[in-house]
Amino acid sequence: MLEVELCGLKMKNPLMLASGIMGSHVSSLIRISRHAGAVVAKSVGTEPREGYRNPVVVNYAHGLINAVGLSSPGVRAFAEELEKFRAEGRSPLVVSLFASTSEEFASLTPHFPMADAFELNLSCPHAENVGMAVGSDPELVKEIVAEVKRSTEKPVFAKLSPNVLDVVEIGKAAEEGGVDAVVAVNTVKGMSIDIVSRKPKLSNISGGVSGEAIKPIALKCVWDLYKELDVPVIGVGGITTWKDVVEFILAGATAVQIGSALFYSHRIFYSLVESLKAYTRSTGESLVELVGKAHTG
Ligand SMILES: Cc1cc2nc3c(=O)[nH]c(=O)nc-3n(C[C@H](O)[C@H](O)[C@H](O)COP(=O)(O)O)c2cc1C
Repeated sequence: MLEVELCGLKMKNPLMLASGIMGSHVSSLIRISRHAGAVVAKSVGTEPREGYRNPVVVNYAHGLINAVGLSSPGVRAFAEELEKFRAEGRSPLVVSLFASTSEEFASLTPHFPMADAFELNLSCPHAENVGMAVGSDPELVKEIVAEVKRSTEKPVFAKLSPNVLDVVEIGKAAEEGGVDAVVAVNTVKGMSIDIVSRKPKLSNISGGVSGEAIKPIALKCVWDLYKELDVPVIGVGGITTWKDVVEFILAGATAVQIGSALFYSHRIFYSLVESLKAYTRSTGESLVELVGKAHTG
């Protein structure tokens, strides 16, 4: 009742680990893959990158604000690390890439023969010249997707930012470039100030808000993209309970990703799977049957 096929990937359920949440260690991905339908690795670029000074994550009442700064061991070291997923991973592996140009993006895919799909980070809100900086320009998004598609036969997902005027315009540009699915959304720009020191809490001053606070924003993006695009939509942003999962599916998500909720519960995938099993048993419908159902009166 929970199985889903996403761009040819056979998934035991529609729950995916969101990029960046478990850092760059393959052992965490392997552990999560026992219950998750797929896992997305932390975004990787061509060169090793330190990221920002601490503090890089702030916890607040309704979620997190992070400015990790796309820290990464670089393509060679990370490809070596991810190789171990082949033997022990229990669900498809999606490798997330960041870069500044279409050529640079395309140069990364051959390093990851163990990947089942690629996700393009066109949406990180707190790193210069990458992420949102390249993902806010529809022409560039189309060019990047087309170039990456020429570099690999595997499915390519475009991860979009909610920090744009029209997420559908960017989604359509990705579709014109030949993308296989869109992922909505990355974090929403935000900040927090410490009233004792009277300084911003994050070393980078501002960062990206995730968790419960952004659920309605992400849901609306999924709704709009489902209405206007032909490719599948993967929903992400603030999913914490099985009811959130159902809401995203009804809005049009074929699969969903879960990030911040892992900070509060390491058993989140297991408990969501059990609750969704009970839900589908009670309704007698599989989750696939519910995709986009809220659009049809
Ligand atoms: C600490 C942290 C690191 C993240 N790193 C990445 C990343 O490397 N690449 C990326 O595409 N998204 C990254 N994200 C964004 C998440 O994948 C996700 O889109 C966002 O947090 C919203 O989902 P959530 O509310 O379930 O956390 C990161 C989020 C957090 C909180």
